Amino acid sequence: MKIGIPAETRPGETRVAATPETIKKYVAAKHQVIVQSGAGVASSITDEAYQAAGAQIGSAADAFGAELVLKVRAPNADERTLIKSGTTLVGMLNPFDTENIAVMAAHGLNAFALEAAPRITRAQSLDVLSSQANIAGYKAVMLAANTYQRFMPMLMTAAGTVKAARVLIMGVGVAGLQAIATAKRLGAVIEASDVRPPVKEQVESLGAKFIDVPYETDEEREIAKGVGGYARPMPAAWMARQAALVHERAKQADIIITTALIPGRKAPVLISEETVKAMKPGSVIVDMAVEQGGNCPLSELNKTVTKYGVHIIGEPNLATLVAADASALYARNVLDFLKLIIDKDAGLAINREDEIVAATLVCAGDEVLKK
Ligand code: NAI
Repeated sequence: MKIGIPAETRPGETRVAATPETIKKYVAAKHQVIVQSGAGVASSITDEAYQAAGAQIGSAADAFGAELVLKVRAPNADERTLIKSGTTLVGMLNPFDTENIAVMAAHGLNAFALEAAPRITRAQSLDVLSSQANIAGYKAVMLAANTYQRFMPMLMTAAGTVKAARVLIMGVGVAGLQAIATAKRLGAVIEASDVRPPVKEQVESLGAKFIDVPYETDEEREIAKGVGGYARPMPAAWMARQAALVHERAKQADIIITTALIPGRKAPVLISEETVKAMKPGSVIVDMAVEQGGNCPLSELNKTVTKYGVHIIGEPNLATLVAADASALYARNVLDFLKLIIDKDAGLAINREDEIVAATLVCAGDEVLKK
């Protein structure tokens, strides 16, 4: 089968959906791979490296003209004109973007949005949210450390002792756990908060302190369990108690990294303007939820702003800043996903009975598939 790898065109997108490593595997499985010239440049992969792995280099039209197209982001209107009806498209297509899914359906695409994979053990190797959030959590700490005008570790020098930085992590999913681990390696003292009960143990096992906001009703306890591994919006009373505790902890913090998300909804507000006002001058906030409305109302998309002496970093899509590894892991996720929809004769075999296939297939044969 012909597999196409176009270059990504969305502003700031540095990743690519296949690497020489995954292309070697496609070629070994008797596929013909066409990579758009320059597709890997932002991830430090040259056309020559793709060629050496067995790919052909071609134009955007060549890559989009393949039977199976592997993307990072959903194609835009110009790109769609290059895709034939009946093409199978795999990427991070945003399963909540119903408008775009309707457009892709009308175009006759069979489209798989990888973010919609269920959080089951069998799906772990193709979980793009996890592979990219892990990288983003790491990079958030790097950005914070770069902006912060003090040391992260405690240092004893001849000129006196320097205190360790205090880092507060809000939301401890995949990104938050990696942020804790990274800040820990740099020697910071860490506290963390989340709504879901299993998180406490995970936070403590990484050597950080968990900010406990006890549940006061059965309703709070039930909602906090979340659904499918994801959080649900907590009742206002719990959020108010969490905010009061976080306000006190934020006053002591030097760096806050917020990662809290609720799938398909606006991100919860966790660091209010009042809390920012109370923070120490020179503190740093990295709002990883900025694209979903932000965990801090003062953060601004694509900007670092300074409010009340606090530097607030609103860089979205942090994984794109670690492009080479982000592409390497994403490409492996895609490779693992394709094992579910390609048969042993190297042809497409879309089995809608498979739980992962059914969850990720957002449109097929003109039809939008409701989730
Ligand atoms: P996410 O990116 O959707 O959200 C980030 C974190 O924010 C979550 O931990 C969530 O509980 C937290 N959050 C939401 N509202 C909050 C609030 N008001 N205050 C504080 N925190 C809040 O979550 P992510 O990282 O995608 O995954 C969540 C969990 O899913 C993981 O920790 C893991 O347990 C599970 N998971 C399971 C997988 C599998 O079994 N295949 C793969 C990946 C994750």
